[in-house]
Amino acid sequence: MLKKLSIIALAALSLTAGGAFAAGGAGHIHDTKFSFEGPFGTFDQNQLQRGLQVYTEICSACHGLRYVPLRTLADEGGPHLPEDQVRAYAAQFDIYDEELEDDRPRKVTDFFPMSGIAEAPDLSLMAKARAGFHGPYGTGINQLFKGMGGPEYIVSLLDGYTGEEKEEAGTTFYENTAFPGGWISMAPPLYGEDVEYADGHSNSLHHEAEDVAAFLMWAAEPKMMARKQAGFVGVFFLSLLTVLLYLTNKKLWAPVKGKKLNL
Ligand code: HEC
Repeated sequence: MLKKLSIIALAALSLTAGGAFAAGGAGHIHDTKFSFEGPFGTFDQNQLQRGLQVYTEICSACHGLRYVPLRTLADEGGPHLPEDQVRAYAAQFDIYDEELEDDRPRKVTDFFPMSGIAEAPDLSLMAKARAGFHGPYGTGINQLFKGMGGPEYIVSLLDGYTGEEKEEAGTTFYENTAFPGGWISMAPPLYGEDVEYADGHSNSLHHEAEDVAAFLMWAAEPKMMARKQAGFVGVFFLSLLTVLLYLTNKKLWAPVKGKKLNL
């Protein structure tokens, strides 16, 4: 039995090793280390703030985050911005108010705007809608070992432009090693040193991509930390319950089992 199990485990592992290449058809995704990975991982507040800045200054020109409430920018475990900064951030986007029958600046109780151009998908749930790791051969083993890979997909996508372009039916497509099919209609949004952070420094393309991917992961799953904690507490109490039930069982059957032994 043990031998059989270890053979199965070995087979699974060797398949995972080959998985990086097997993902070829769906584009090449490189594994990125994020602070929120693993059972005890948490979001890195500074990274989320940098990611928010990249999103705001670059991506929001085309992409919306319509399902993300602006007030959550103040959440602990998230970007954790001070209340007054969140108010100022919200006020830079206008929204049509039916009661006023006019536009007004957004309040913290509003949501992020929708996508500005119809072809650009909303990014609220993108980090969970895309799976970076598949197979091999549809087994999902890579997801089991490396996670869903949504943020990794976003990093690889932003980082995956080859510089080749082609035009088809009036639309320009850009070659991208991560995008399924290899050609995407989004022009490369990042080149490196695109934004200047509060402390005056700027980052390489790859770091910007990681920051915005982490921010989009938070946007898609803001309660990840709470979920992990609840899971951990659940497992702890279930283990405790198992021990108590085992002892109760022993105690209940003790007279009967004891008799048997004395026979
Ligand atoms: C000039 C407009 C524009 C900007 C700026 C832009 N995008 Fe896009 N993006 C698009 C369009 C258009 C698509 C749809 C591409 C397609 O399906 O061929 C897209 C698609 C995407 C997708 C989905 C890819 C998929 O798997 O379907 C992601 C993720 C994405 N963009 C992330 C970003 C991020 C992150 C930024 C900021 C760093 C950004 N985009 C900036 C226009 C833009």
